[in-house]
Amino acid sequence: MSVNADVLTASIAGDQRRPSGGWSSRTAFILAAAGSAIGLGNVWKFPYIAGENGGGAFVLVYLVCVAAIGLPILVAEILIGRRGRGSPVHCIEALAVSDGHSQRWVMIGWSGIVCAFLILSFYSVVAGWSLSYLWFAIDGQLAAGDTTQVDSAERLGALFAGLLESPGMLIAGHTAVMASTIAIVAGGIRRGLEKAVSIMVPALFGLLIVLVVYAGTTTGKFGEAVVFLFHPDFSALSWESVLIALGHAFFTLSVGMTAMMAYGSFLKRDVSVGHTSIAIAGLDTTVALLAGLAIFPIVFAHGLGPDSGPGLIFVTLPVAFAELPGGMAAAILFFLFLAIAALSSTISILEPVVEYVEQRWGWKRPVSAMAIGMAIWLLGFGPALAFNIWSGLKVLGLNLFDLFDWLTSHLLLPLGGLLISVYAGYALSRDSLAEEFGLKRPRLFQAWRILLRYVVPVGVATVIATN
Ligand code: TRP
Repeated sequence: MSVNADVLTASIAGDQRRPSGGWSSRTAFILAAAGSAIGLGNVWKFPYIAGENGGGAFVLVYLVCVAAIGLPILVAEILIGRRGRGSPVHCIEALAVSDGHSQRWVMIGWSGIVCAFLILSFYSVVAGWSLSYLWFAIDGQLAAGDTTQVDSAERLGALFAGLLESPGMLIAGHTAVMASTIAIVAGGIRRGLEKAVSIMVPALFGLLIVLVVYAGTTTGKFGEAVVFLFHPDFSALSWESVLIALGHAFFTLSVGMTAMMAYGSFLKRDVSVGHTSIAIAGLDTTVALLAGLAIFPIVFAHGLGPDSGPGLIFVTLPVAFAELPGGMAAAILFFLFLAIAALSSTISILEPVVEYVEQRWGWKRPVSAMAIGMAIWLLGFGPALAFNIWSGLKVLGLNLFDLFDWLTSHLLLPLGGLLISVYAGYALSRDSLAEEFGLKRPRLFQAWRILLRYVVPVGVATVIATN
């Protein structure tokens, strides 16, 4: 019997491959997975791409993409992880071999590892911005003094530009994020990740609700934000916007690079993967929409535009905060919220690689977390310095920050998602997946299979082809 089949037999017989124990409950898993899903994607990216793509109609397309494409892949990842009970690379290989297929499916796992390096290296840099801004808010650098809006827009624009021009500040933020990420992942599932998310995710929701109430009560523009986000104006929607919505559906649910597979491998067998995934996607979507409802009233309050791009929350929002009553306290809460959301995501990007190293080379968890984390920290110098001293360094016409973002969001994540859907939808045996899904839920299983086999491949292939 091959090593892979051994792994599989052990895993199906019991949970021996996870001797230290996995998530202590279904809730713990949901918090971890929702923490992974909820991140910069929801708070930084979603509002600005919704703003740039005209609001309501884009939001509608995004919701359809999350439900019809992201969610089925999320289910597939969790199922594969739980079935294989190993690192993603090991799970994919073992399940393919045991179902009589080529070992080459393991490519999905390798692509996931490459993605983890690329995504975390630039994600951590942006997460670092939120720490810098938290400091700016506390230190009073975001305060308006008695200047006009035009003055403060200029000054806050310069503050953001100054941050990007400062290698020292960018590397410091990136270093703090990576150090925290490594520390949490080194603690393992129960003592590290589970503990961290059980504090971070409730805190995140609490802060967000305070911010929405603040935006609703101080600006008088809540209704305008609701119309902007929920009233679809299809004339504002282009094919390009549809592609952006679809690409973002992957990123926001953390699917396509096996992160959710890694989390799923620690999930108890008696938990329904279908319902749990719906809960995770629901929480993620709720946070994205609430973030919009916190940000847009504040932005609209001062006649500012929703379409200012990546600077939306780092320039436009602070300009508005500077003029609102209690704006500095709100700014502190906002950037704290952003930093927490980012950190509960970075740990899930590091996790699959750490699991791989633990399992393949038998390294202890703290050692593998440190080694992989340091490697990603070093790689992060690329995207950090792309804004300043290495700005002239271009690959395919893109600086390293944009390159890593483009390679992952536009190429590797959709490709990974496509391969995962084909692997789970066509290669793996229907019966073993049905058993893993839970035999009590035949209709949900059917619906999932149809989406996975037909809707996901067609949708994703279209995106990749027209990119
Ligand atoms: N989903 C997170 C966000 O919205 C980012 C993230 C975490 C991620 N893990 C991932 C993206 C894995 C892709 C793959 O910010």
